[in-house]
Amino acid sequence: MNILVTGGAGFIGSHIVDKYIELGHNVTVIDNLSTGVLSNVNPKAKFYQMDINDSRIEDIVLNGQFDIINHHAAQINVRISVSNPIFDAITNIIGGLRLYESAVKARVKKIIFASSGGTVYGEQKYFPADENHPLEPCSPYGISKLTNELYLNFYKTVYGIDFVALRYTNVYGPRQNPHGEAGVVAIFASKMLKGEQPIINGDGTATRDYVFVGDVVRANVLALDEKVSGAFNISTCVETDVNTIFHMLKKILRSDVKEVHGPPKAGELQRSCLSYDKFNKLTGWKPEISLEKGLEITVDFFRNMLSL
Ligand SMILES: NC(=O)c1ccc[n+]([C@@H]2O[C@H](COP(=O)([O-])OP(=O)(O)OC[C@H]3O[C@@H](n4cnc5c(N)ncnc54)[C@H](O)[C@@H]3O)[C@@H](O)[C@H]2O)c1
Repeated sequence: MNILVTGGAGFIGSHIVDKYIELGHNVTVIDNLSTGVLSNVNPKAKFYQMDINDSRIEDIVLNGQFDIINHHAAQINVRISVSNPIFDAITNIIGGLRLYESAVKARVKKIIFASSGGTVYGEQKYFPADENHPLEPCSPYGISKLTNELYLNFYKTVYGIDFVALRYTNVYGPRQNPHGEAGVVAIFASKMLKGEQPIINGDGTATRDYVFVGDVVRANVLALDEKVSGAFNISTCVETDVNTIFHMLKKILRSDVKEVHGPPKAGELQRSCLSYDKFNKLTGWKPEISLEKGLEITVDFFRNMLSL
């Protein structure tokens, strides 16, 4: 298949590109390298360093004859979305629309969208949340992800472009950016390896559902299948708090770093844990990498990256 991956120089997108190429697909990547890096881009992919809001996107989509667009480019930081919702909406909503409008003209068959199970439901009313849970995002980032899903439904109904929205929980693994504010595993692992002090925001009891990037990639492969359509949680259904992540990493690294807490970050969800039953029933997918194993793989990656 001919596949366009936006955000293919980033953490998750670059792993998806590698897998699609390994499976024999022709892959084109669009990424503005705002958080992604050129060294992540598979040399067998055709690469355009370009913003998804650049009007030249239309020519690329029209000329590319893509069967699938896999849309991972985004402003990914919840806190930036709170401080600058207009920037968030321009990248995540208008940028998405620009892509979907081009997809209509180019008669693309299907769009795979990286949605966010950690934000579209808002503060969960029950645990684990399935896809029928009320959608009440409480950040502009969550609103922008949900808005994309609603637009994709419009494009499906009116133009017949199929879509899959993969609602990831907290994805972690090799290549995650340790310099951002999101991605506690990457931040803690790289700080511990450098002998720096990680800071746990608040009391560290906030929970998340941590899913390994390799499992997310497998979901993106299954999403190519025409029988897969609609919105699906991609999660582990396991709830882990930040203090536990800290201590698991400390153990793997045999570090004697102290547990230090800072002020809580306003507006962060207290708990998050999603059911993946819907995707499992359709495709057989389930997470294969345990948190222990995934953390070890991630630590090895950062150890090599930092040449320690
Ligand atoms: N990491 C997670 O836990 C998680 C959870 C849920 C959803 N997601 C979604 O998955 C996708 C990938 O996230 P990630 O964690 O790999 O982050 P990332 O920052 O590594 O990847 C995003 C990529 O998009 C590119 N990009 C950003 N704005 C762009 C623009 N305007 N034009 C072109 N390229 C642009 C960046 O340079 C980067 O390479 C995002 O859509 C994110 O919202 C991630």
